[in-house]
Amino acid sequence: MSTITVQPINPTNPGLGATICNINLESLSNVDFAILREALYTHSVVCVKGQSGLTPKAQAELTRRFDPEAQSYGHGKTIDAKRSILHPDLKTVPHQPEVQVIGNGFVSEYEGLKDIRLKHPHHRTFHKTVIPDEKDVDFTRFYRWHIDAALFGRLNPPMVTSLLAVHIPPARKQTLLYDDGSNDTLQVPLGTTAFVSGYTMFDILAPEQKEFVLTSRIEYAPHPYVWISTAKSRPDGLGMVSEGLEVADNALPPIENASDVQILPMVWQNPVTKRFALQIHPSVVRKIHLKYGSVIDDLASVREIIHDLQRPGIAPERVYAHDWEQGDLVFFNNHGVLHSVVGAFKEDEIRLFRQCNLAASQPPVGPEALMATAA
Ligand SMILES: [Fe+2]
Repeated sequence: MSTITVQPINPTNPGLGATICNINLESLSNVDFAILREALYTHSVVCVKGQSGLTPKAQAELTRRFDPEAQSYGHGKTIDAKRSILHPDLKTVPHQPEVQVIGNGFVSEYEGLKDIRLKHPHHRTFHKTVIPDEKDVDFTRFYRWHIDAALFGRLNPPMVTSLLAVHIPPARKQTLLYDDGSNDTLQVPLGTTAFVSGYTMFDILAPEQKEFVLTSRIEYAPHPYVWISTAKSRPDGLGMVSEGLEVADNALPPIENASDVQILPMVWQNPVTKRFALQIHPSVVRKIHLKYGSVIDDLASVREIIHDLQRPGIAPERVYAHDWEQGDLVFFNNHGVLHSVVGAFKEDEIRLFRQCNLAASQPPVGPEALMATAA
C-alpha cells in the first residue's frame, strides 16, 4: 500500500497547490505515479520537497511519464531564434536537451554549461511602463502570464511542466503591483512563480461569456515570440498593449505551411476531473474565430476581449504564489493553469532552476472535440 500523502497548500483554495510527501521519485511504481498524476490534475500545481539530487535525466523521464509519446522539448528549437523573446531566458542542458536552466546571476559551471550568465526576466524589458529604479528592490510585477507552449508549427502545448529549485538566494518579500488602475497588490516571496487556475477563470465567467469561450477558438500569431519581440506588455502581465509595434508579417521568418498557424480551443478539458479551463496565452493572441465562421481580426479588439475574460481570474485572492525552497520540485498542469515569473533580483542574488516540458503527443481537448465524439 502506498504511503504517499497529498496536502493542499491553501485549504481555502484546494484546487491550486498541494504538497506531496512520502513519495520516492527515484523508483516510482505505476501505482505511485497514478497518485501523483491524480494529485496534479486535482490540485493543478504539486510540490515534492527535497529533490536537489534529482538528475536532469530523471527530471526529463518523470516529466515524460505524464505523456509517454511526447518527444522533444516543448518549444522544439524555436527558442534558438535570436529574435525570440524566450531566447535570453533559457539555456539548454547539453546532455539533456528537454531540460533548460533558468535563473539569475553568474554560474561558473553546471551540468556541462560553463561560465553562464543567467538573467531573471525583469518587467522593465517587457512592460510598456515600469516601476522606477529606486523602488525596484521592494516592488515587482507579474512579468508575463502564459502557458508554456510554442503555439506555432507542429508542437502541441506540453501537458506538464516541471521546475526544480536547485539554488535560491536568501529569502525576502516584495510587493507586487498590478498597476492597472485597480490598486490591487499582492505580497510575494522574492522570485515566486505565480499560478492561477484556468478552471476558476472559466467558472467565474458570466453565462454568456461561457457560451462565447466554449464556442469560439483563438488563433495565435505566426512565430509568436518573434512577432511580439518589439511590442510591450500591459502592466499586469496579462497581454500586450496595442500600439502597432509588432514585427510586420514580411519581417517575420517565413511560414512554411499554412497549417503551422495554430487555432486552438479557448477552453481545455481536464483529463481526470473533466472540468473546463479557460486556457489562452494572452500575449500572442491574434484572431478570434466565432461559432458560425466569422473572425474578429482587429488586434486591439481581440486583446480587449481576452483581457476582459481573463482579468478576474488573476485577482490577488486567486493567485497561488509558490514560496520556493531549495530542492522543491514542482509539477504543474500546463493545460489548466496560467503562470508568471515574478520578481526583481539584485545582480548578486544567485538563483538556479531547471525547467522541463515536452511538446504533447496530442492537441488539447476542447469542447468541439467532445461534441464531435458525442455525435
Ligand atoms: Fe513558463
